[in-house]
Amino acid sequence: KMNTFINNLMAKMTIDEKIGQLNLPSSGDITTGQANSSDIGKKIKDGQVGGLFNIKGVDKIRAVQKVAVENSRMKIPLLFGMDVIHGYNTVFPIPLGMSCTWDMDAVQKSARVAAIEASASGINWTFSPMVDISRDPRWGRISEGSGEDAYLGSKIAAAMVKGYQGKLQANNEILACVKHYALYGAAEAGRDYNTTDMSKVRMYNEYFPPYKAAVDAGAASIMASFNEVDGIPATGSKWLMTEVLRNQWGFKGFVVTDYTGIPEMIAHGMGDLQTVSALALNAGIDMDMVGEGFLGTLKKSLAEKKVSVDQINRACRLILQAKYKLGLFTDPYKFCDAQRAEKEVFNAENRQVAREISAESFVLLKNNNNLLPLKKTGTIGLIGPLADNTANMYGTWSVAALFDQSVTVLQGLKNALGADAKILTARGANFLADSTMEHRYVNVHNPTYKRDSRSEADMIKEALEVAKKSDVIVATIGEGSEFTGEASSVTDIQIPETQKNLLKALAKTGKPIVLVLFTGRPLALKWEEENIPAILNVWFPGSEAGNSIADVLFGKVNPSGKLSTTFPQNVGQVPLYYAHKNTGRPLAEGKWFEKFRSNYLDVSNDPLYPFGFGLSYTTFSYSDVKLSSNTLTKGKSITASVTLSNTGKYDGKEVVQLYIRDLVGSITRPVKELKGFQKVSLKAGESKTISFNLTEDDLKFYNSNLKFVAEPGDFKVFIGTNSRDVKEASFTLK
Ligand code: IFM
Repeated sequence: KMNTFINNLMAKMTIDEKIGQLNLPSSGDITTGQANSSDIGKKIKDGQVGGLFNIKGVDKIRAVQKVAVENSRMKIPLLFGMDVIHGYNTVFPIPLGMSCTWDMDAVQKSARVAAIEASASGINWTFSPMVDISRDPRWGRISEGSGEDAYLGSKIAAAMVKGYQGKLQANNEILACVKHYALYGAAEAGRDYNTTDMSKVRMYNEYFPPYKAAVDAGAASIMASFNEVDGIPATGSKWLMTEVLRNQWGFKGFVVTDYTGIPEMIAHGMGDLQTVSALALNAGIDMDMVGEGFLGTLKKSLAEKKVSVDQINRACRLILQAKYKLGLFTDPYKFCDAQRAEKEVFNAENRQVAREISAESFVLLKNNNNLLPLKKTGTIGLIGPLADNTANMYGTWSVAALFDQSVTVLQGLKNALGADAKILTARGANFLADSTMEHRYVNVHNPTYKRDSRSEADMIKEALEVAKKSDVIVATIGEGSEFTGEASSVTDIQIPETQKNLLKALAKTGKPIVLVLFTGRPLALKWEEENIPAILNVWFPGSEAGNSIADVLFGKVNPSGKLSTTFPQNVGQVPLYYAHKNTGRPLAEGKWFEKFRSNYLDVSNDPLYPFGFGLSYTTFSYSDVKLSSNTLTKGKSITASVTLSNTGKYDGKEVVQLYIRDLVGSITRPVKELKGFQKVSLKAGESKTISFNLTEDDLKFYNSNLKFVAEPGDFKVFIGTNSRDVKEASFTLK
């Protein structure tokens, strides 16, 4: 039915109208790149627009759709895209925080709520999930992904796609767009948009899996990345866009560029606009975001036989299919129900979901002498630039956030403590000492942030007065929302000096301090780990920030988040990740340094906090690993199990993690690879047996011929509370 409909439609379309479907200008309501689009209204009437993005508001979207379906010759409805990355008006934790929940139901639910809210506001296409693996905290966009691991990243990618798209039938199910294909997270030196270069074996085993998982989950669209891959910008790479994506993975949706990815190939050194536009179409790109290379040059290229009509038809058909699947040909206003928007956006129910998920994303990094949870008695000194700061609770890519409506930490504590709350506050520091520099870091979308004009010394003095009168200090310190995200790379990953000075002054008072850390990237926290008794990493929690922070600080919620990226001791260790190779000269376990071994003179190879790490208010103990058999035969499975006991005083959740190591291979294999996890709830004193099934499929990897195989031989299996602290057993694949 769909094919007949589209065949009939395309039979009536001119070549200009077909090329018009491939054009995606930005409305300019939100700024997400450098170039602007012009004359959009006229272009829509002339059939030169396939979709519009960054347009905000259901009435506006309805009006624009009306122009397309009433005033253009073919009356084809438009797609409306937006960067709905971690929620719409109701903002969830940044994706890096979300990944630390290790809770796939929560991840899917957050995407569902985001789709409900966005679709009620006219949006039918989100540029999410971002699934780029990154092992470099300098890269600002590490905050937008799910961390360093291919397995965890793949599970999250699939859950997000399912959450957004559902069955793509209802008026609250929208198109997902997997991005940025491919390898964007491996930018050299962590500098955004920089070159990437890696072996195919590494691409297939370590970086491709989340994109593929999203495709397997039915993702309707995919976004090309800005970087080059194997010497060719991804946007012009036929190998990536056609050979891998369509021929090997069977992708059936459409591919959009990232912003001006087509004209950017001129700067990459691939030719003039006509050449790079033809290169992109021939590579397999279907839609040109903002660049207008397709619109301006494809007809000429067709006449000069640089592209074929079949390639234009292919791209046009895929975009029309997406519109058909969304139901836009039946009802172009399907996503424009203003009444729905009133009821379904930023309502109490959605905010409650956000509150629960935020609390689950927090990672307790340290808790000496069980300083946390806090008692509700006594005076709290709430100190730091994030204590009473609505604007910076959301984190990057919160383009639909209501900036003055987040719950601040101060408000959250007051809500939890009630009328007789004894909370003293002091700002203590600006984000950065240097005002010009700070202006570069703060949120460009958000005008509400105001710098404090007092000197660093005066602000610290005020903070110390508050500290003196307090029983416990809650120091809300770290990064602002836009310290991470696009074009926000840094070379120093420590807490900014002026805030660290504040923390040092507070530490000298001897008062108990809880560091509530806001960050969009792994930070180097060596001094903090050595000097601050309790550290709760809250990432950027979203709309309900203050409430979820209070829930955890006072023990209503027991923290259960686990890191999805390694925290290094210092920036010089980067990239540092748990699934590394052994090398021919590994450092012996437990050693700090040995000459002629793979290590540094000045710092050990250990991370500060390993992948998978996160504490709880309770304690868990693991039995030894039991295997149902020491031999795994092809086509059969074995079970690996442990008894997990909650040995502490609180009910709690634990993420039980299973890793494997392939001891001998035709190519070198990582020292550990995550192959399973389960998030389980245990009452205080309770024990449970946790079992994982292992089959030959779990042991497969891409070999030098890029064949996905399992090789017979000896394996280790590890089960534990993080990637470092595990129990192990051995088996053989026959
Ligand atoms: O979706 C984004 C992408 O992640 C970065 N460049 C701009 C796009 C559209 O806003």
